[in-house]
Amino acid sequence: MKINEQYAKLPGNYLFSEIARRVAAYSAEHPDVKPIRLGIGDVTRPLVPAVVEAMRKAVSEMGRLETFHGYGPEQGYEFLRNAIAEHDFRARGTDISPDEIFISDGAKSDCGNIGDLFSIENKIAVCDPVYPVYVDANAIDGRTGDYLQASGKWSDVIYLPLTAENDFVPELPASHADLIYLCSPNNPTGTALTRKQLSVWVEYANQHGAVILFDAAYEAYITEPEVPHSIYEIPGARECAIEFRSFSKTAGFTGTRCAFTVVPKTLIRQGQSLHAMWNRRHTTKFNGVSYITQRGAEAVYSQAGQKQIRADIAYYQNNARMIREGLKQAGFSVYGGVNSPYIWFHAPMDSWKFFDLLLQKAHVVTTPGAGFGSRGRNYMRVTAFGEANDIEEAVRRITVM
Ligand code: MLT
Repeated sequence: MKINEQYAKLPGNYLFSEIARRVAAYSAEHPDVKPIRLGIGDVTRPLVPAVVEAMRKAVSEMGRLETFHGYGPEQGYEFLRNAIAEHDFRARGTDISPDEIFISDGAKSDCGNIGDLFSIENKIAVCDPVYPVYVDANAIDGRTGDYLQASGKWSDVIYLPLTAENDFVPELPASHADLIYLCSPNNPTGTALTRKQLSVWVEYANQHGAVILFDAAYEAYITEPEVPHSIYEIPGARECAIEFRSFSKTAGFTGTRCAFTVVPKTLIRQGQSLHAMWNRRHTTKFNGVSYITQRGAEAVYSQAGQKQIRADIAYYQNNARMIREGLKQAGFSVYGGVNSPYIWFHAPMDSWKFFDLLLQKAHVVTTPGAGFGSRGRNYMRVTAFGEANDIEEAVRRITVM
């Protein structure tokens, strides 16, 4: 036998595992210190009552012979796919049908698994900085070439710089890209693409026969009208894009696990339907999300559910505002946080050094920008997911440091 040698090429630990390792090491040495965790973007508000109620009801159904559910459809129950198509797409004038939606256990898994549809010969383009899952998953598949230690880049990957100079808007690549990962609102920079900016990419993908892998996990945080909630708001996107969405940050499901991926039936490459391929992949490798969880997700779309989740999103948005304003007042150059729960700010030194300093002096856990790519090396990411009093205290500690 031979192992997949690509694993040996992966640099170090997965970013958030490395952060957890460093925080655990620090806490072991300083057991009396309780760091405020604004590193990984993990929600803190509990599931809303409408979701809890629906899940309770589903649990009792599962406990009775007449209403018990065994395996569900791998693609997800119709009740949830209908609710998503209606509320997230049709209500916004976007043409997506329930059977183009695949329910899954997370956008991270889907972003990682989507590579199953594509040959390893494809050239991928990612933003720099970038959510590490896109690159690492392609590295595992063998699509990235070699890892170049000195630059922190992969030899066969096209990097699209996101910098303060280009307002964190990726420019079209100089050489041909086959698979283009875009995340808007962006993780990690917290900035978002407008309809006009995204249209440029849809046009490029259609002209070049490329596929856009569009991560919209943070769409619920959009506040500006010119920022699209879905790539399918852009004409031509049904012919070139796959979209990933999640209940994690929208409805507090990080621990509950439910997400969905949209693969339009009009997305055809080499005469093959990518929808049919993903359906084949999904039914082969996945047995669906639990009935209980899907009933909980469905309740997100009820009138009460919508009101309750919007209140939690507003809570995190207010945290984002506190962070943005606090860091600005302290003299940092601050980006994001308007259409996103992430704030990206310029660090006065290498970001891993600043990470350690913030942990040791302010007892605040952040995410070093270097963990997202070489263009992040002098930036830090702070999440607005947290309790407001902790956020206030963390900002105070960073600013007096
Ligand atoms: C993050 O902090 O970037 C996210 O929480 C990670 C994820 O969603 O997997």
